[in-house]
Amino acid sequence: MELLDILVFGLAAVLLCLWWRYSPSPVSATAHRPERRLPPGPPGWPLVGNLLQVILQNRPFIYVVRDLRARYGPIFTMKMGQRTLVIVTSSQLIHEALVQRGPLFATRPPDSPTRLVFSVGKCAINSAEYGPLWRTLRRNFVTELINPVRIRQCAWIRKWAIEDHFKRLESEGLEKGYVEVMSNCRLTVCSILICLCFGAKISAEKIKHIEGVLKEVMMMTTPKLPDFLPVLTPLFRLQLKAARELRRRQMECLVPLIRERKAFVEGGGGGGASRNGGSGNEPGFEMLSPLGAAYVDSLLGLEPAGRELGDEELVTLCSEVISAGTDTSATAVEWALLHLVQDQGMQQKVYDEIVQHVGKDGLVDENDVEKMTYLGAVVKETLRRHPPSHFLLSHAPTEETELGGYVIPARATVEFYTAWVTQDPDLWADPDDFRPGRFLDGDGIGVDVTGTKGVRMVPFGAGRRICPAMTLGMLHVNLLLARMVHAYRWIPVPNDPPNPTETFAFTVVMKNPLKAIMLPRQEKSGLGGTKE
Ligand code: HEM
Repeated sequence: MELLDILVFGLAAVLLCLWWRYSPSPVSATAHRPERRLPPGPPGWPLVGNLLQVILQNRPFIYVVRDLRARYGPIFTMKMGQRTLVIVTSSQLIHEALVQRGPLFATRPPDSPTRLVFSVGKCAINSAEYGPLWRTLRRNFVTELINPVRIRQCAWIRKWAIEDHFKRLESEGLEKGYVEVMSNCRLTVCSILICLCFGAKISAEKIKHIEGVLKEVMMMTTPKLPDFLPVLTPLFRLQLKAARELRRRQMECLVPLIRERKAFVEGGGGGGASRNGGSGNEPGFEMLSPLGAAYVDSLLGLEPAGRELGDEELVTLCSEVISAGTDTSATAVEWALLHLVQDQGMQQKVYDEIVQHVGKDGLVDENDVEKMTYLGAVVKETLRRHPPSHFLLSHAPTEETELGGYVIPARATVEFYTAWVTQDPDLWADPDDFRPGRFLDGDGIGVDVTGTKGVRMVPFGAGRRICPAMTLGMLHVNLLLARMVHAYRWIPVPNDPPNPTETFAFTVVMKNPLKAIMLPRQEKSGLGGTKE
């Protein structure tokens, strides 16, 4: 430790003591200041609260929270260093906070120093505080990227990306005898989202590179020690340095795509320097979406803070679309396919339904999947049994308020543990069972996944901050799954059967990624694996 570090550490310790002396903890608040009753919670240690207890357990936070829920009930507090975390787990309280009193719980807590490097002052839909910036960005996203006309107009992107998906699966199947589902689905969804953002097909290596860098960004921005003890941030200079270096690489891979599209837009959408418009400086880049159809086009004309957005902000806003939509959708496909691999009868039912709609040789398109009720039930059951995120993004109340009879301080971090709702035996019969049929003739009929009428499963959140791309996410999952089951029968790899143990990697994924053998359904297909 350098001398400077020792000085900073000493100063930080003094500040922490002062802060600890004057800040309320769940226990002290209840004992000494009954008028400010935080929800109950585990007793903490001086200065660090429950932070070290969590770290010492050395297991994913979701497991810690599961145990605390059983002990402290539907709402409890954890003092994590300087941050007060309020965890809400019950259906009623989630509905009350997010839907009935939506605006009050609609803001986000402050970003940590590391996250600020990537959010450039919270200039992203997911991190912006509830206010004019968030409203402008979100409205633009909804009207420009995911309106039904745009989704239909961009069907060619999904067609191209899924064709590439099959080519990749085929060669991996031939090479290894099996395929890894998650990595292939991530790449495919990522390529769709990159094309939606920049209007261009780019080479497979570039997509892989961008996907890798954005995954690193996601992992770097998950909560770390200095997020809970910002006072110690100066001690973590190396971590901040690593964050800035990663940000530099993120800019390096996305700014050229923005510049190409800018040149294309400024050139009136064609006839630029390159064959496809754009500046022509970027190799492996084919500009295909018409003027106005790429997300970045809409951002170029936007002035959310009274001025044009710069490269830093454009990179942040496009990265959020790619990151928010890639892992979530790919995770859902992987879990769904796990169950179809494990239960061949269920897979046959999905296949039969597809054949009923498009025949054995037809091509499943985006309108077809909407009509496939059994497929829809499999996807819903997947999102119920394996919600990609067990928590929503962190929320914060805009002012001090009450919830469940307790006080929630303004700007406290409120975590909604929505995965519990789908595991609650009072809300679902045999919640651990995977039974798509429950959405056709059982306890899942008519369930509202937006949570507006009541919270029984909210994989996309609920209320003001609900995922704005819910329909697009569902389309990606349904379409990819339908096309994969239509073209191949998926079976387990002998001697390496799938293992459903879960782990946290931004979303909650299979600890050992799903491997499966693909058997082509049709003589003519000939894609990957051995023929049935
Ligand atoms: C199966 C797929 C998806 C799932 C399960 C999912 C789930 C979620 C969840 C749980 C949230 C947090 C809600 C909250 O904090 O209350 C969220 C927010 C968000 N999602 Fe998604 N999502 C999916 C697909 C997508 C896609 C494809 C995109 C972009 C094209 C996207 C963009 C966003 C954005 C921008 C936010 C932030 C909203 C805000 O803060 O106002 N998501 N999503």
